[in-house]
Amino acid sequence: MPNAAKPADPRVESLLARMTVEEKVGQLGVFADMVRPFAPDVNPENNVRNAGEVLEQVRAGRVGSLFNGVGAAQGREIQRVAVEESRLGIPVILAADVIHGMRTVFPIPLGEAASFEPELAYRTARATAIEATAAGIHWTYAPAVDIARDQRWGRGAEGAGEDTFLGCAFAAARVRGFQGADLRAADSLLATPKHFVGYGAVAAGMEYNYVEIAEGTLRDVHLPPFKAALDAGALAVMTAFNDINGVPASANHALLTGLLREQWGFPGVVVSDYTADMELVAHGYAADDRDATLRAFSAGMDMSMQSGFYAAHLPALVESGQVPMAALDAAVRRVLELKAAVGLFDDPYRSLDPARESDVSQLPAHEALARDAARRSIVLLRNEADVLPLRGGQRIAAIGPFVRDRDNIEGCWTLFGDKTRYVTLEEGLRAGLPAGSTLEVVDGCGLEAPLEGGIEAAVAAARAADVVLLAVGEPQRYSGEAQSRTRIVIPPAQQALAEAVAATGTPVVVLLRNGRALALEGAVRDAAAILVTWFLGSQTGHAVADVVYGGYSPSARLPVSFPHDSGQQPFFYNHPRTGRPETPEMSEFKARWREHPNTALYPFGHGLGYARIEYGPTAVSAPVLDWDGTLEVRATVRNAGTRAVEEVVQLYLHDRVGSRVRPVRELKGFRKLELQPGESREVVFALSRAQLAFTRADVSHGAEPGAFDVWIAPSSVAGAPARFELLPPQDAARG
Ligand code: NOJ
Repeated sequence: MPNAAKPADPRVESLLARMTVEEKVGQLGVFADMVRPFAPDVNPENNVRNAGEVLEQVRAGRVGSLFNGVGAAQGREIQRVAVEESRLGIPVILAADVIHGMRTVFPIPLGEAASFEPELAYRTARATAIEATAAGIHWTYAPAVDIARDQRWGRGAEGAGEDTFLGCAFAAARVRGFQGADLRAADSLLATPKHFVGYGAVAAGMEYNYVEIAEGTLRDVHLPPFKAALDAGALAVMTAFNDINGVPASANHALLTGLLREQWGFPGVVVSDYTADMELVAHGYAADDRDATLRAFSAGMDMSMQSGFYAAHLPALVESGQVPMAALDAAVRRVLELKAAVGLFDDPYRSLDPARESDVSQLPAHEALARDAARRSIVLLRNEADVLPLRGGQRIAAIGPFVRDRDNIEGCWTLFGDKTRYVTLEEGLRAGLPAGSTLEVVDGCGLEAPLEGGIEAAVAAARAADVVLLAVGEPQRYSGEAQSRTRIVIPPAQQALAEAVAATGTPVVVLLRNGRALALEGAVRDAAAILVTWFLGSQTGHAVADVVYGGYSPSARLPVSFPHDSGQQPFFYNHPRTGRPETPEMSEFKARWREHPNTALYPFGHGLGYARIEYGPTAVSAPVLDWDGTLEVRATVRNAGTRAVEEVVQLYLHDRVGSRVRPVRELKGFRKLELQPGESREVVFALSRAQLAFTRADVSHGAEPGAFDVWIAPSSVAGAPARFELLPPQDAARG
């Protein structure tokens, strides 16, 4: 392991002593796997030609890693060339973007975060690792741990939402799940928290845009999920494309070396994002390619992805003395130690076993997990007159472009999903249809364009039905990389369909498809019930049917706030306090929009189940918290309904006075518990000074004595707080 506590692998030093500069630089190069391209039909001739070239580079010792290929048999052949035909026989490490499932596709990470069950993310990441390593992949470029406070940005779909506490829990769980207990095991998938750092804070939510950010915000909001992922054992980090206050993240010495290596003691490998070193020239941060190489490498980027810049320029930079040989050796050592840590020096053919790849015995379990993960990710936003769950004996009209759709099920960044196993909404709704119910399916419109006669057919079906299931939302390609939006709304053709269907007066249940929080409008906003179904993956249809027909009571909560309007972005619940809050006692000169209140339509943490849950008052075990003490915060929650449900009990904190303006509330804990009908449970959270800490005005990290509010509540805006005071150290000492 590349860890100060463990001795270095002697094979690494022996190799380093024998390597030429070119071979050393070769270990720092990551290139697209054209030997096993994941879309070979795109350009077969080119692929064949490139495959030969790539193998030649591997043979020459000029490739440390290949990415986004798949297949155990061909992976074995690549490895055979590396181990048997290159001069030093150093194995390559095979990487890929395996983000939320491999063959079995789980919900997009944002959707899964809605479960508020990090343990679930652990299990889906573990299943993903089992399938990915069976397909000849050692290393995933996941999890994305970027905090997304602006829903215009499309890559929020890959992370855990707007909140840092939730983001840390999911980052750590995903790393543990991918890697498993033993990094050397054949089913361990090396994890890569990305994108370091501030990527989610791109200005105006526009992909690849600049980032201007306060030091305290960077430290308190965007860095903690990386720390959590590293503490969970991640040994690789990917840099971000964006600059941070003028310095590109991929050439940021203060962050890559000062913080990551020196302060946090990160022993692993820093890999660039795709051509991020090359882009330093486009940023205007480097004069030319050689300068870009120098800046990226000197800042602390160990591996260069796809640009070929390190191969082209590092040898000359070493020759000229601008890059010390010791620095080159240190980066190569980290790469070799990484390969040793995952067992590639002991068994270069680990995770390259065609027999394991063709073994499908785990699939039933993974499909069951995918169904459970998907239904645990569905958020019920509203449920007027208990229209859900549907009762038996109803005439149901399933209307909308997503009902029969098979191409918008998996969500962004799914390269390897087995589409033949995807369950559409129609298939799931038919399979679970209660006795005596009927189901009529009408598309109504396309994803972005009207269909001739579509609205008429939809209206007729709605009129003849007792209830409408209206499947509308964003096409899959609206979220993910390079998919920023200015208006986070449903495409107009679908909105028009929704208005026409609603006008029939038949109750409408919206099944929303989305990769971000949306600004819901008109008939979609006003529907009797709304289920947020994200992109749920392979088992979409069955999971939605489970919730709609009542086999499962929805238990997820929003990991992102749904605003009233796109123009409120960036919008997040834990915003700093303003001097003129939007409270009734303030006159019109207050923080608000002319058109909308400055609140969420549905706030972070909100979500309903099929029973009403009552919260008793929040109480603290003492009015004061000693500097080194702990405090208990408690509340009683009661299931006032008639069926068992799972409730996500949330702990929020507010620091009343701080040396930097504090957020109105911050999530500090959550617990998901099952409550039987009529059951009451007391929920207790422990609080200590560490949870009150933040980056203070002088940039030090710590808590400040004074008054705090604390809530145990069902969402980020609900409930009434209890109050306590953190005593300064001397008071604690006095007694
Ligand atoms: C660019 C993306 O930003 C990153 O997340 C991904 O891992 C790389 N491309 C490699 O595909």
